[in-house]
Amino acid sequence: MTRSRQIALITGASGGIGLELARVFAEEGFDLVVVARRAAELEELARQCRDEFRARVDVYPSDLLAPGAVDELMHGLEKEGRTIDVLVNNAGLMEMGLFAEIEAEKHERLIQLNIAVLSALTRRFLPGMIERERGRILNVASTSAFQPVPAMATYAASKAFVLSFSEALSEELRGTGITVTALCPGFTKTDMLDRARDEHESAQSIPDFMVSDVGDVAREGFDACMSGTVVVVPGRPNQLLASSVGFYPRWLVRGVTGIFGRRAAR
Ligand SMILES: NC(=O)c1ccc[n+]([C@@H]2O[C@H](COP(=O)([O-])OP(=O)(O)OC[C@H]3O[C@@H](n4cnc5c(N)ncnc54)[C@H](OP(=O)(O)O)[C@@H]3O)[C@@H](O)[C@H]2O)c1
Repeated sequence: MTRSRQIALITGASGGIGLELARVFAEEGFDLVVVARRAAELEELARQCRDEFRARVDVYPSDLLAPGAVDELMHGLEKEGRTIDVLVNNAGLMEMGLFAEIEAEKHERLIQLNIAVLSALTRRFLPGMIERERGRILNVASTSAFQPVPAMATYAASKAFVLSFSEALSEELRGTGITVTALCPGFTKTDMLDRARDEHESAQSIPDFMVSDVGDVAREGFDACMSGTVVVVPGRPNQLLASSVGFYPRWLVRGVTGIFGRRAAR
């Protein structure tokens, strides 16, 4: 797969990990299609990527939770004749707190964006990739995908979906020229983490050494995507945690996460 002038579509590119991924893809010679609700942030990103990396950047301001948003995006791309070589499913929502105390609508929005939209976009772009016999998909999961996380039950379950889905697809697509990568960051310094720290006292005690730099996470995600690595966990502490989970019985993992989760929800 040559890198010059291929197109990467990145959801949630107006901030955080998505914005940094967009910058890395542009730096590495990709043109971009960037999607999120905040048009001004996308336009500023586009301006920077054009100036610094001479990338063509198409800005698609869109609320992916709005009915018909995925269809509209597809029609827009078709009209412009844009073929997507790399799909980056990054947009996501996180909610902290006890399940029964979080508004039902917030759970629904999270499930819709983290699972349904990611799956719908993959379903839309994959047939074209299969026809062209090349393509890459980078799905942003989380270290919370590796075990249940009480006080983040819906979020962690949604990321378990992303990880399982990505691994299954990567096997279905073996030998086709298409790769699927699940990027599983731990805590990363973005607005998502800042909001959690503002709203939940427990999130303030996350030690600095557990918080990854967003640029490092994006770079690792890009490299893994390009090399066709199926699962990537950025950062040594996160790798140790993610791999150690598999060594212990589920009841023990559940029990330990329960202690921390109940404390965090207080
Ligand atoms: N930060 C962490 O600690 C961490 C750890 C592990 C995994 N992750 C995952 O990494 C991904 C990015 O998270 P982040 O930390 O970069 O979060 P963030 O700073 O809150 O960024 C989220 C991005 O998603 C977009 N988005 C949210 N709702 C949307 C909607 N309805 N339609 C379109 N775009 C929407 C936002 O753009 P607009 O607001 O402009 O729409 C924004 O660009 C998520 O999937 C998250 O679960 C984050």
